[in-house]
Order: sequence, then structure tokens, then C-alpha cells
Amino acid sequence: MLILDGKIASAAVKATLLAQTQALTTEGKRAPHLAAILVGNNGASETYVASKVKNCEETGFESTLIRLDVAVSEKILLDKIIELNNNPSIDGILVQLPLPKHIDEAKVIETINPAKDVDGFHPANVGRLVQGLPTFIPATPYGILLMLAHFDIPTKGKNAVVIGRSNIVGRPMSILLSSNIPQGNCTVTLCHSHTKNLKEICLEADIIIAALGVPNFLTCDMIKPGAVIVDVGITRVEDATAKKGFRIKGDVNYEEACAKASAITPVPGGVGLMTIAGLLKNTMKAFEASQNK
Ligand code: GUN
Repeated sequence: MLILDGKIASAAVKATLLAQTQALTTEGKRAPHLAAILVGNNGASETYVASKVKNCEETGFESTLIRLDVAVSEKILLDKIIELNNNPSIDGILVQLPLPKHIDEAKVIETINPAKDVDGFHPANVGRLVQGLPTFIPATPYGILLMLAHFDIPTKGKNAVVIGRSNIVGRPMSILLSSNIPQGNCTVTLCHSHTKNLKEICLEADIIIAALGVPNFLTCDMIKPGAVIVDVGITRVEDATAKKGFRIKGDVNYEEACAKASAITPVPGGVGLMTIAGLLKNTMKAFEASQNK
């Protein structure tokens, strides 16, 4: 059984990006610059944003972290985004989700200039993705494609089942896997909380993407022998024996899945690392497009 190690695949992506950044600075050009906005102090969001900033440093990118109080008004947040849209030294903008309830998430996403929307969440970019046009692929689905490419996992003609229909992962993943691209051309079934016969559907799958956010949801009785399992779950589960008081759990029962799968992503150390690789690649792409204007 092959472990789809995110450390290995993301290191390969980051090494290429670092070489590109070094070539830019050697030519006297500036490095790509990512701006991240973090509203409030949700523990998981703090960790993800800190990791995004750290990875920018590792690839020679500039990064700016803007922290706003949990009670910040929607107007102040939107004004901050507009300021970043108008700043020519910023290539990519991300607003870490989820946002506090009093802020309209859709409005925030639509305020980001689509040319700087390195999360690929703006409706203009989602529309381009659906139509197979060049765009920013949302970071997690992009990271999964990069992972499949790195480990040469064949996808053409395979049955893929995506569990979870979020705008961030499941829905774009289902579109990409069905698209006519190197890591696509699958026959895709997108499952969600109203799906009947989920177990039977999963048993037909050559590839399962579990992205529903329920720890240990996918068990061995749902997996066809030889299937490729991609676990997107990163839920914090309380554990008094862990140093931080919690452990990160995936959506897949790893031990059970290992007995059936031909390849599997671990949690942690799998898709999470690839998400950052996808984000960094999008930031480089935004930078390059801004230089060619
Ligand atoms: N929250 C969970 N995943 C993501 C992501 O990929 N981007 C942003 N901005 N927020 C998230």
C-alpha cells in the first residue's frame, strides 16, 4: 500500500517555487506577495494562517498578515480588501474562513479582485473552473490534483466518489475530477448528507475523496479493495493525553482503510500540506499575470 505523503509531494512543489523566486530576485525583480486576513482568533484558523505565512517564507515569498478583531465591522473588512486590491505590490489576497456570523461571507469573497483571488472562491473564478477556462483552482482541490500527479495515480475512466459538497473542497473537486485535464476524466459521484446508499456508492469507487468533516466516517466496509483514498478531514478531537489537549483526525478510519486501499493520504501530513502548496502556486500565478500586464 502506497502512502501519499504530503511532506514529499509538497516539498517537490515548494522546491520548484523557491527556485522560481530565487531566479526572480537574481534578475532584480520582487518576489510574489500574499496578503492574508484573519478575523478573530479561532484556534484552527490561527494555525492554518500561521502555516501559510511560514510556507511563504520558505519559498521566498513576501507575506503580510492582517489581523482584525472578531467584532470588526463588515465595512472595515471590505475596505481593507479594497485597499489590498488597489495595492500593486500585493499579488494574492485570502480571507481565512469561516468568518464571524455578522459578516456576509459571499460579499467578502465578491469584493476580492478575481485576479488576486488565490483561493479561487470568487464566483467569476468558479465559473471559469466549471467552463474549463484558466483560473485559480481552490487550494485544497488543487493540492489533491498535485498529490495525484506527484504519485502518478491514474484517474482517466475511473469511478470517483466525492463525499461532501462544500464550495471550498467537495464541489470544485467533483468538477475537476470530471474535467478533461491530466488528473481528471473520472466518472464522478458527488455525495452529501441526503445521499441514499452511500456505502454501495463508495464500494463502486476507484477513488474516494472524503471531505465531510466527520472524524473516522469512512470505514473498511465502504472501501473497494485497491481503492485510492484521499482524506481531507482535519477535525480537532479532544484528547487529554495529547500535548495540546486535542488530536487532528481525518474523515477516514486510517487503520481500517489501510487494509483495503492501494494508496491513502495520512492525516496529518497529507492533504493539509498540499493545500498550502496549491495556494503558493496560485500566488506565483497571480504574480506572473500581474507582471505580464
Ligand atoms: N478555511 C478552510 N479552508 C480554507 C481555505 O482553503 N481558504 C480560506 N481562505 N479559508 C479556509
